[in-house]
Amino acid sequence: MLEHIEARLPGWLEASRKRAAEGQVAAYIPELAKAPQDALGITVIGPSGETVSAGDPNMRFTLQSISKVFTLLLAFIDNGEEAVFSKVGMEPTGDDFNSMLKLELVEPGKPFNPLINAGAIAVTSLIHGDTPAEKTARILQFFRTAAADPALTYNENVYRSESATAHRNRSLAYFLKDNEVLGEEVDVEEVLDVYFKHCSVDVHVGHLARMALVLAFNGRDPVTGQALIPRRYVQIAKSFMLTCGMYNASGEFAIRAGIPAKSGVSGGILALVPGQYGIGVIGPALGRKGNSTAGVHLLETMSEAFDWSMF
Ligand code: DON
Repeated sequence: MLEHIEARLPGWLEASRKRAAEGQVAAYIPELAKAPQDALGITVIGPSGETVSAGDPNMRFTLQSISKVFTLLLAFIDNGEEAVFSKVGMEPTGDDFNSMLKLELVEPGKPFNPLINAGAIAVTSLIHGDTPAEKTARILQFFRTAAADPALTYNENVYRSESATAHRNRSLAYFLKDNEVLGEEVDVEEVLDVYFKHCSVDVHVGHLARMALVLAFNGRDPVTGQALIPRRYVQIAKSFMLTCGMYNASGEFAIRAGIPAKSGVSGGILALVPGQYGIGVIGPALGRKGNSTAGVHLLETMSEAFDWSMF
């Protein structure tokens, strides 16, 4: 069923791989800087579990900001819509993903959306569990179910590297505490610890594709038939992916590709074609706005060829 993609994918992948030269591997988390600059891998999965891959689909990398979509979904399941939107807004920022700017500029100092770092830290504080370990365990369990891999876990080296150098995220989190977005009962360091761990979950593109497939089918895993996430929450998550998923390049990606996607600084992109496919891409070299240059090019090429745009 994926033959039409399979036939053309290797050629497109090699053309997109050249775009890696325009980007740079993220270095602000030292452990990420070790990734190969011109790696590029993709897996596409359809509703009966059929897959097609090209390039470097077995390369391991960490979810980074892609995890934010799924912690948001779990926060909705745990707390409902109203409680989540009391902590984060619904609008793109136009600023970099780790920016503090608007937290001070706009009252009441609530993060603009759940996909920027400040918003994701606020969302992480809402995950249920008596201890940070229990919260992390619940998040991992949720990710494992969505990715259909019970062995999914976080990469200890990336987690440590991120935690040791997270000066900016610490500033954001303490600022949120001062603004009372993180409540009195919230221990900032504990929330950060859970956040670093969910960003450090170790995957390959097959995991991203399978997680994306669940979103493409509105919260039901079409392979197992299992209902995993209420449709309304998936609808919200996909809206955020379209408007904020590629940060301050989301408008450009919506125009060029027109499909919901979420990027991470490890170079991963989780994308989906509604009702059709889940897609995972890895290309560690990032453009100025934090998205994989080769990965974005590949998705744009495919979207144009197969007329995937939702618009
Ligand atoms: O908090 C951070 O900076 C990283 N763990 C995640 C940032 C990220 O992936 C932004 N993506 N483009």
